[in-house]
Amino acid sequence: MSIIIIKNPEQIEGIRKSSKLAGKILLYAEQFVKEGVSTEYIDDKIEEYIRDHGAIPAPLHYHGFPKSSCISLNETVCHGIPAKDTILKNHDIVNIDVTTILDGYYGDTSRMYSVGEMSIIAKKLVVATKKCLDIGIGQCSPGNYFGNIGYHIANFAHSKGFSVVYEFTGHGTGLEFHEPPQVDHIAGRNSGKIMKPGMIFTIEPMINQGKAKVTVDNHDGWTARTKDNKLSAQFEHTILITETGYDVLTDVSGEYNNS
Ligand code: MF3
Ligand code: CO
Ligand code: CO
Repeated sequence: MSIIIIKNPEQIEGIRKSSKLAGKILLYAEQFVKEGVSTEYIDDKIEEYIRDHGAIPAPLHYHGFPKSSCISLNETVCHGIPAKDTILKNHDIVNIDVTTILDGYYGDTSRMYSVGEMSIIAKKLVVATKKCLDIGIGQCSPGNYFGNIGYHIANFAHSKGFSVVYEFTGHGTGLEFHEPPQVDHIAGRNSGKIMKPGMIFTIEPMINQGKAKVTVDNHDGWTARTKDNKLSAQFEHTILITETGYDVLTDVSGEYNNS
């Protein structure tokens, strides 16, 4: 079924709590993103923090995923598996994607970090990708089409000379990890379903330095890399549609003027 669930107030409060916890983990993780640290170590610290706060890491055992978070470096687009032999090095760009289950409710968010200074092109890509997320969030309003999220994200990404990953998308979330609708980051103007108050979904653009095409690692069945091995970046928030606009549930920095 492709019915988009309208969450009730009790569910919204539960999803908000889980989302805030996920957002806080991204702040907590920052201290570990340093040269010489393994992505497995960061994942261990994330799992410990999640469990200490009475929650469960949603990725663990999800369709066989072996770890508690996704940590994706440089040309890895998403679903990087934390590993003891994946060691951070100077100038790496790193996405950490955290999804919590708290009292049965899901919150899903990710952001970029860097190890030391970024190269000029990496910085340009990361800044543009954050802007893509914010442009998508700016389209969140009752009565607007989901397609306008991807329409405006793609226009901006292309204007910067970057490409938009189309093989992975945002998604409804809250009662399950992945619910309808699929939230495309490249889409036609005024296409798709219409946003309504009480809908909760992610926007999580993956933007590539080179071509959009992605390949998934044969060995692990998860790690998605750019086919041309150029850089990729991603930011993600979980968003509630309100009567008047949006509420960024995973924002813990007070960055967004929720309306
Ligand atoms: N958190 C990812 C998303 O944003 C999904 C990860 S699925 C996993 O949708 F199995 F790799 F964890
Ligand atoms: Co997501
Ligand atoms: Co995620």
